[in-house]
Amino acid sequence: MDAIEAITRRVSVPVLSGPDVTDEQIQLLVSAALRAADHAWLRPSRYLLVRGEALAQLGDVFASTLESGERTDDAVARMKSLPLRAPLIMVSVCRVIEHPKVPRDEQLLSTGAGVQNLLNVAHAIGLGAIWRTGAITQHPLVRAAFGLTEQDVIVGFIYVGTPAGKLKEPPELNPSDFVTDWKS
Ligand SMILES: Cc1cc2nc3c(=O)[nH]c(=O)nc-3n(C[C@H](O)[C@H](O)[C@H](O)COP(=O)(O)O)c2cc1C
Repeated sequence: MDAIEAITRRVSVPVLSGPDVTDEQIQLLVSAALRAADHAWLRPSRYLLVRGEALAQLGDVFASTLESGERTDDAVARMKSLPLRAPLIMVSVCRVIEHPKVPRDEQLLSTGAGVQNLLNVAHAIGLGAIWRTGAITQHPLVRAAFGLTEQDVIVGFIYVGTPAGKLKEPPELNPSDFVTDWKS
């Protein structure tokens, strides 16, 4: 697929199925992510891959974050099922470092830009993907399960797989509505 078409027509795909995303495809997605703009080339982005049996294990971690008052059978089952919505979750992590010229926000933006590159390339090669977050990204039990340190920020859970149905149509936005000529 043409790069411009991939970028301008990409849509998120919430319902994903197998087959497994191949190691070659994952390498390509990460290569795309690593080409994001990156002030001072700090390389703040890391990806943790959750696939195979690890998906159910992550579901157990998600379920363990429920407070005792909210731990109904339905809630536990729902939490356990969340990671099973795709054959692969790429956990995007920004490892923020102290830098005299590159503040924390810029490092987070770089990792986020990398995620967008990844989504675009997934679309271009016929995969589907969706960027998800939620309160769970900051939960201490989730962070501990991934072995994160204080420097690490989970920027997103990127669910990747094969689109299970027809892709939605991207919304028609008029670029002019978002652009103004500035004059002093
Ligand atoms: C930082 C970030 C976090 C997001 N978190 C969620 C989420 O937790 N759940 C969700 O359904 N969509 C989430 N989204 C939105 C979807 O990824 C997607 O962008 C949105 O549904 C619009 O669809 P589109 O990308 O096809 O335009 C998030 C997007 C961003 C940028």
